[in-house]
Amino acid sequence: MKFFIDTANLKEIQEAYDLGVLDGVTTNPSLMAKEGIKGDANVRAHYKAICNIVDNNVSAEVIATDFENIIKEGKELAKIDDKIVVKVPMIKDGVKAIKKFSSEGIRTNCTLVFSAGQAILAAKAGASYVSPFIGRLDDISQDGLELIAQIRQIYDNYGFDTEILSASVRHTMHLIQCAEIGSDVVTCPLNVITSLLNHPLTDSGLAKFLADHKKVNG
Ligand code: E4P
Repeated sequence: MKFFIDTANLKEIQEAYDLGVLDGVTTNPSLMAKEGIKGDANVRAHYKAICNIVDNNVSAEVIATDFENIIKEGKELAKIDDKIVVKVPMIKDGVKAIKKFSSEGIRTNCTLVFSAGQAILAAKAGASYVSPFIGRLDDISQDGLELIAQIRQIYDNYGFDTEILSASVRHTMHLIQCAEIGSDVVTCPLNVITSLLNHPLTDSGLAKFLADHKKVNG
């Protein structure tokens, strides 16, 4: 399973990359705004800076919502670096744009997916990744993980190549259950990745090993 970090913060991206387990980055307009990145030139420079840290898979989201402008904006984003994956919302013109990008060899991430039907459309259009949002479904008392399982089954039934990129992952149990279900990718904040390190028996076990070593070696 691939790990993507869901942030536009360069320090956090570097920290996750340095851990040696990072396969990519997802951003969205809210995350870019959180970093105070504004204006086309600054946005592009920021995406380039992210690409300079990681090895591949940097999702850059279009702001346009009509076909022509999604294509124009997506092509400009794709030009920034070969690592860019154009992130396109699950709307009618977005699906059409994904089909066009796919036919031209431009990788896409279909975002804001909340149903199996939307995931089928994304796959049929040739999206490289589909992003179902687990946490936001949980927020409205629907089972986000159930959607991941449903999409996994549908994609396996038909051999769709689209990778399931579980998004809006809020805690380690989301991540672990995504792994059990067979999600291809999870994207989550840095603290979810680093929380995987934690276990009290690891801490107490290490303390005992070091204490025993010190008794004999001084
Ligand atoms: C996915 O690509 C989105 O950026 C993200 O996972 C949304 O997460 P949130 O629901 O925690 O904002």
